[in-house]
Amino acid sequence: MQVLADIQTAYRNFAVYAAGNSPCFEEWALGVAADRQVQRWLARLPEPKRQPNLVFAAARWDGLVAPAPYGDLREALLGDTGRIRATILERATQTNEVGRLATLLPAFASVPGTGAVGLLEVGASAGLCLYPDRWSYSWTTDHGTVTAGSAAPTLFADVSGPAALPDDVPEVAWRGGIDRNPLDAADPETSRWLLTLVWPEHEDRRARLEEALDIARREPPGLRRGDLLQELPGLAAEALAALPDDARLLVFHSAVIAYLDVHGRELFAALMRDLLTDPRLHWVSNERPRALPTVTATGPEPPPGRYVLGIDGHAVGHTHQHGRSLHWWG
Ligand SMILES: C[S@@+](CC[C@H](N)C(=O)[O-])C[C@H]1O[C@@H](n2cnc3c(N)ncnc32)[C@H](O)[C@@H]1O
Repeated sequence: MQVLADIQTAYRNFAVYAAGNSPCFEEWALGVAADRQVQRWLARLPEPKRQPNLVFAAARWDGLVAPAPYGDLREALLGDTGRIRATILERATQTNEVGRLATLLPAFASVPGTGAVGLLEVGASAGLCLYPDRWSYSWTTDHGTVTAGSAAPTLFADVSGPAALPDDVPEVAWRGGIDRNPLDAADPETSRWLLTLVWPEHEDRRARLEEALDIARREPPGLRRGDLLQELPGLAAEALAALPDDARLLVFHSAVIAYLDVHGRELFAALMRDLLTDPRLHWVSNERPRALPTVTATGPEPPPGRYVLGIDGHAVGHTHQHGRSLHWWG
């Protein structure tokens, strides 16, 4: 049956994505990929709701303690009285990973021009990546440690290749985002869901997320609700009008474009190329290889599980999906 085969493939692919990052999620994904009964349970969900990150988070939200052996997930799903299913149907994966800033900042710093920037994040979730200036950075390179910024807390990443690492954080003159479902960091249930989306063994990410939520609670980001294809041109025009003449607007996104269908991805790439005709606007993308094939094609083949970092449509590096490392060729 095609549906079960598709579920099997999706969970096998997720196991590759989780390998080396979460032994628990790798085991769970491989377990589902080999378990017809659980695949049949998943097949009763609408297709977009069968994704591993959502299913695993919903089981944990409803009481499954992780890390745990695959058998515990199996028992939770097959014994579900309706609560896990309801969570899956109600909620969406909107993982907001502020650690990605450690691999985005070198791209922000490499955009042509100097001076203040405006930051417009497409698919911002709770907007936690809109505050690169509230963190400091520590990059481990082949030539030693490079740091930027003086604020606590610190974001860390390993960097290889000739990345031009900045020695300071950007001066942000405007910030705002778009999401079809903007999340409010001040809402306790929302915060708890975002914390549940963090993979089981990743205590460092959970601690970082708590800090990022605090930052957004103190200074709530301006997030526009709506579809990115509809909202981006108008918000970009507003941001450009609000910025001083010598400032640049960086439109950026990470882990978002894969949510669009193939046609939507093409429309988005065309929209960005259109927006790039304004010399004050630049584009920083950080996405799975297949999300923006025209950007991916400008660089070497990405290793499994890596994102492609792009500036103005050209691949400049490969990044770890949660911002733990960056390989730059520029
Ligand atoms: C995985 S989260 C990534 C959040 C953030 N960019 C980060 O890196 O932490 C993807 C976000 O994209 C949003 N999104 C997906 N498709 C969208 C669309 N068509 N229009 C607006 N937002 C969208 C989702 O609601 C979600 O909040």
